Amino acid sequence: MRILVVGGGGREHALCWAISASPLCTKLFCAPGNAGIAQVAECIDIGAEDIAGQVALAQREKIDFVVVGPDAPLVAGIVDAFTAAGIKAWGPSKAAARLEGSKSFTKALCRENNIPTAAYEHFTDVAKAEAYIRAQGAPIVVKADGLAAGKGVIVAETVEQAVEAVRDILAGNRFGAAGASVVIEEFMQGEEASFFALCDGEHVLPLVGAQDHKRAFDGDKGPNTGGMGAYSPAPIFDAGMQKRTMDEIVMPTVRAMAKAGSPFKGVFYVGLMIDQKGPRLVEYNCRFGDPECQVLMMRLKSDLVPALLACVDGGLNHLDLRWSPEAALTVILATKGYPDSYPKGSEIRGLNQAAKIEGVQIFHAGTKADGNRILANGGRVLNVSAMASTVEEARARAYRAVDLIDWPEGFCRRDIAWRAVGQRS
Ligand code: AMP
Ligand code: GLY
Repeated sequence: MRILVVGGGGREHALCWAISASPLCTKLFCAPGNAGIAQVAECIDIGAEDIAGQVALAQREKIDFVVVGPDAPLVAGIVDAFTAAGIKAWGPSKAAARLEGSKSFTKALCRENNIPTAAYEHFTDVAKAEAYIRAQGAPIVVKADGLAAGKGVIVAETVEQAVEAVRDILAGNRFGAAGASVVIEEFMQGEEASFFALCDGEHVLPLVGAQDHKRAFDGDKGPNTGGMGAYSPAPIFDAGMQKRTMDEIVMPTVRAMAKAGSPFKGVFYVGLMIDQKGPRLVEYNCRFGDPECQVLMMRLKSDLVPALLACVDGGLNHLDLRWSPEAALTVILATKGYPDSYPKGSEIRGLNQAAKIEGVQIFHAGTKADGNRILANGGRVLNVSAMASTVEEARARAYRAVDLIDWPEGFCRRDIAWRAVGQRS
């Protein structure tokens, strides 16, 4: 099969790495890709959100199967566009991608189907939202309804902060159309974990759990980011927790989406808050996590391609995937300044040396080649990943590799997997 992966981050590098190893793949393209992806796929400089450009590329290159990485094109309907052009594409339709693209859609679905999640209300009116916040008190969580590049969630510690967030979003137009309405939620306490499950619209194939680190700096300090590191398995997400998550959250969602005429095909990213009472849904994403995908692909021992094909064609119930019992961990190297503004174009050295460490795999997130040089070309730039029999050893290997990378303009957290390591020591 000639396969096209849409996207150009660390998640897409991990997907391309796994897909390129499949005997089913005869030729792999990635658009736009990056300098690391170029080692396993032919990169074509077309943006992930340029739907017409991506469809034209797939037609020109006679692509048999498209795998879409990021959320924005999925929410905008890229899979519907490929399907209309007669090209098989993996990922949810625009209607199914509302699970990520509209927080009020998902909250209403949870309410109708008794899926455990934070209590909430949905508002378009500032005064009504403000009255609700004052009645509930703080802490409280304000969310722009639509996609806001990971910035649309404000965990407010005071009533005043929450009111200001609502005014910014509804009256100040801070997120444009994505902020035409807001969801205001109960603040949930507990430990977060992410779980992934493939779905063909009817059947679900559970993958594994992982834990991300959303804050920029050590000790979970600093601003929220797309994710500064991840590891899998996550001790809190054990077999019992997975069963409850499947029974109480994922399966009711699958049935509700099918009943509504928008069956979900693709991967559920189930963002969870776990406490003594069990798992509650924080959010759904309709794509693999970035950087969670990187650790999942490292642990996956089976061919990924038949599983992705089955999401589109059906029959996921006949498939089984094998996972390494080892731990995988990834450390994100980001440009200093991220998640705010940062310069592009600084040179990264030492990558070859770092990649030689046993069990290490380096995925590129935001890089660009300039002849033989590798330049930083984004906020999150590299995902230095490692496998080992314990999470402690995987972490030691990853940081050994990080320390061989010569890039003064970059930074990383030094405490990835602190929960798992702390629990064991
Ligand atoms: P989201 O974009 O929905 O993943 O939200 C970003 C982060 O905000 C989550 O990973 C949580 O850490 C936090 N968050 C979102 N909703 C809640 C909630 N209801 N209670 C506590 N924390 C939340
Ligand atoms: N790692 C968080 C996300 O992919 O949304």
